[in-house]
Amino acid sequence: MNVILFGPPGVGKGTQGEKLAAEEGISHLAMGDILRAAVRNGTEAGMKAKTYMDAGKLVPDNVVVSMIEDRIAEDENGGFLLDGFPRNVAQAVALDEMLSKRALIVDHIISMDAPEQSLLDRLCGRLICRACGFGFHRQYSPPQKSGFCDRCGGELYQREDDREEVIAHRLEVYREQTEPLLGYYQDKVGFSRLDASGETATVYAALKQVVKTQHG
Ligand code: AP5
Repeated sequence: MNVILFGPPGVGKGTQGEKLAAEEGISHLAMGDILRAAVRNGTEAGMKAKTYMDAGKLVPDNVVVSMIEDRIAEDENGGFLLDGFPRNVAQAVALDEMLSKRALIVDHIISMDAPEQSLLDRLCGRLICRACGFGFHRQYSPPQKSGFCDRCGGELYQREDDREEVIAHRLEVYREQTEPLLGYYQDKVGFSRLDASGETATVYAALKQVVKTQHG
């Protein structure tokens, strides 16, 4: 099964995508995580990406397309869930081309959305584990011990681009450059919309239902 999870920053793509991918036994390919790993590792692509990411801008298409193509090539037999890719029509066209070369198709394109105030609250309160990458929220899913990860005990931090002024710019970039992609996808087989405004467990139940209805 191949899935695209689409939606604005903070809507819950990472939270829901990680759980669904684990349950379905497919790879969770989160573009933001792949880019942050490249930055940490000091690769050439990571160095190029960092200034764009810190400013809340999209990283140039040629950088992200080649990174995701490499990951899809690694995972093509097992199925994948794409989170944060594609983010504009040029990336969607590049994805179609790389999948058709491999005779792969996307089974589900799920577009998540939630009110802007919820997105802001979720992003402003997000905390991430430096060691394992697991996500928490100061208010909605706080760690048991303040500042430390429940899973591995690692230190929690706030992402550089989760500062209020950068969040505002990321949301603007989403509305201007990424949301128009809905026009590209909405008439395709497997497209559905998902209300992601509820609690995490409610959204996950609805997500599973979408997958079950379409996939059996
Ligand atoms: P990326 O890391 O992909 O960021 P994003 O799309 O802005 O998405 P987020 O990770 O911020 O949000 P999410 O939807 O995953 O929410 P989450 O589940 O964490 O990208 C970062 C940057 O990389 C971009 O700005 C860009 O520069 C670059 N980039 C990435 N992809 C690119 C591409 N294709 N092209 C070019 N550049 C690219 O949830 C957020 C918080 O809310 C968490 O704390 C969570 O616990 C909480 N939460 C989640 N769901 C709920 C709920 N239902 N109720 C209450 N709290 C909830």
